[in-house]
Amino acid sequence: MAQLNLNGKPVTIDVEGDTPLLWVIREQAGLTGTKYGCGIAQCGACTVHLDGAALRSCVMPVSAITPEQKLVTIEGLAGSQPHPVQIAWAELDVAQCGYCQSGMLMAAAALLAQNPNPSEEEIRSQITNICRCGTYMRVLEGIQLAARRMNSAGAPASAPATAQART
Ligand code: FES
Ligand code: FES
Repeated sequence: MAQLNLNGKPVTIDVEGDTPLLWVIREQAGLTGTKYGCGIAQCGACTVHLDGAALRSCVMPVSAITPEQKLVTIEGLAGSQPHPVQIAWAELDVAQCGYCQSGMLMAAAALLAQNPNPSEEEIRSQITNICRCGTYMRVLEGIQLAARRMNSAGAPASAPATAQART
């Protein structure tokens, strides 16, 4: 049995404790925006936020998550409006096939929460998600556009409390 705070709602899920969080999110919670790519924490398709930090959910046993920790998936990224990275992605047509893009967006949003004005080098070194379609340049431009917008709007960046896994 796992108790989670998922996209702001408490959920109780009947699974073995060693079940990877990704499968709990997709199969038990029915939130299929988070994707399976490699299953070994390499590609980032499964990226979600845990207390604001990017987490590769395919290698995280659900038992390691406490009910107090805030899990956010792509379905919960937008507030009353789309997140600035979602707006930038749409404007720049970042996605190609789209499979990797929820992970890219979650990694991008976590990066900007931690570092509101990342350099190109920081973006390149910290966004390590894999895109088979090769959207990397547009991902870079999308993060830079979102950062400019967030900084000019003075949007508060929610600082991630923990970084339990790299994106
Ligand atoms: S599916 Fe988790 S990192 Fe690839
Ligand atoms: S957009 Fe196709 S894998 Fe990234």
